[in-house]
Amino acid sequence: MKTNTSYGDSGFSHFIRMAFQRHLGYDEQDFDKPVIGICNTFSEINRCHSHIQPMVDAIKQGVIMAGGIPLEFPTISIGEMFTSPTTMLYRNLAAMDTEEMITAQPIDGVVLIGGCDKMTPAQLMGAASANKPAIMFTGGPMNNGEYNGKTLGACSDCRFFWQEYKAGTVSEEEINEINAQLAPTAGHCMVMGSASTMAACSEALGMMLPGGAAAPATVHERMRLAKETGKAIVRLVQEHIRPSDIMTEKAFDNAIRTLMAVGGSSNAVIHLIAIARRLGIGLTLDRFEALSQTTPFIANLRPAGEYQMQDFYYAGGVPAVLKELSPLLHLDELTVTGKTLKDNLKDVQSKPHYSHIIKSLKAPLYPNGGIAVLRGNLAPDGAIIKPKAVIDKKLLKHKGQAVVFTSIEDMEQRIHDPDLEVTPDSILVLQHAGPVGAPGMPEAGMLPIPQKLLKQGVRDMLRLSDCRMSGTAFGTVVLHIAPEAAVGGPIGLVKDGDWIELDAERGSLELLVSEEELTRRKESWSPPQFTDTGYKWLYRRHVLQADQGCDFDFHFPRERVGG
Ligand code: FES
Repeated sequence: MKTNTSYGDSGFSHFIRMAFQRHLGYDEQDFDKPVIGICNTFSEINRCHSHIQPMVDAIKQGVIMAGGIPLEFPTISIGEMFTSPTTMLYRNLAAMDTEEMITAQPIDGVVLIGGCDKMTPAQLMGAASANKPAIMFTGGPMNNGEYNGKTLGACSDCRFFWQEYKAGTVSEEEINEINAQLAPTAGHCMVMGSASTMAACSEALGMMLPGGAAAPATVHERMRLAKETGKAIVRLVQEHIRPSDIMTEKAFDNAIRTLMAVGGSSNAVIHLIAIARRLGIGLTLDRFEALSQTTPFIANLRPAGEYQMQDFYYAGGVPAVLKELSPLLHLDELTVTGKTLKDNLKDVQSKPHYSHIIKSLKAPLYPNGGIAVLRGNLAPDGAIIKPKAVIDKKLLKHKGQAVVFTSIEDMEQRIHDPDLEVTPDSILVLQHAGPVGAPGMPEAGMLPIPQKLLKQGVRDMLRLSDCRMSGTAFGTVVLHIAPEAAVGGPIGLVKDGDWIELDAERGSLELLVSEEELTRRKESWSPPQFTDTGYKWLYRRHVLQADQGCDFDFHFPRERVGG
């Protein structure tokens, strides 16, 4: 086993390590074989990973078949639904755990087991910094749910039907029946939310085997992929292929184009910036904007389109999208197959029966991508919007007066108050919900429509915040406003009644308040005081803003091990 564990006397150190290798059932010569760590994120609380053990076993079989020794180890496992206050607070902790365990342990390569929203980016961040051979595998999406003949998807329909319930168009009995069908099988959320998006981006980056993103958790294809993943990591070790050889600047372009083509989650913007930063690649919002403008939106997937991951799988999944995008991609990029993207796509056939799910570049769903970048005096360092997920398209060019909520708690207390002074043209502004302010930038950006407006038939309003929204959410929602309120960003200076103007096509977001007045407000602003200890103390002091990926400021690309 290649390890430097030291007890001060090298002879004794070797002697004691040998004793414990034998304790594991191995002799020294066994460890001439590649040792493959399986970063097992099984958790009964993270239900998106609660089914992965048979897949882990299949990965181990693949490793053994290829001549390696698989050794499982645990890391933090975080699931969206049961982590307080938000998983994003712990993405960086999971990335540190992953990096340090890959680095510290005597393994030659590692299989990362992702799935739920933050796990895939956290593991790619950790693997990027550790820079030992690595491959991503996910537990796969859930099958479609169904209610009264209509397809259900978590969690777009969680939000849609809850809104209708609050509006009074869905009964108590119906909402309970729907609730029982929203998460019908093992797997992660089955729309093109953050989990599916980061799986698709992993595949496009070259870090996951072709077809690895879309195969549902329940199909036998996923077990085959698991076994092949085990074989592939041994090959990567033998050929000395590291994450930095695969996740190049051009590979990130491929991932961003894929994000735009599938109408993926806005969260991927933050995650891709963070992963790239670990490798010394400076991804900017401008790069996302440029690639969004030149990438047709071709995958008809919810929340922006009509279909879900199970349908996408049958339509050919990410390989079919990449094949269609080929003229726009860097095809010479290396992938975890040990071959280039071009080689991987050579035998991918188009499936005409599924042209309603994966469109062509010539006849796309929309001519450009699913995420637009906004700037202006309200977002000097940028903000983003998903124009294709907007319900009321006229809100993409809108001027209205602010109704301000100073925190998530304030919003929860007052949003449905019958006395709240709000009209359909108002702009709902949520402050202090960013990386530092909340902390952890929760997915609260899709502010609920006030119930009194829901009952009048209103289903969309312009909403602004310094937080995120789930990749499964929808509406005219401006997110990731930077700098955030808690560090003195202009969003924290907005007051009730201020006029705000959004022009998504021009990419502008302006607070229509005079410079003098803004200067006055800024002078009377003081930073919020926090009383955290431990990890939250560390997080609040070191987390970067959304436009920089929300990683910690002390993570620099370091000299790569042996690279
Ligand atoms: Fe894990 Fe949705 S809760 S992906």
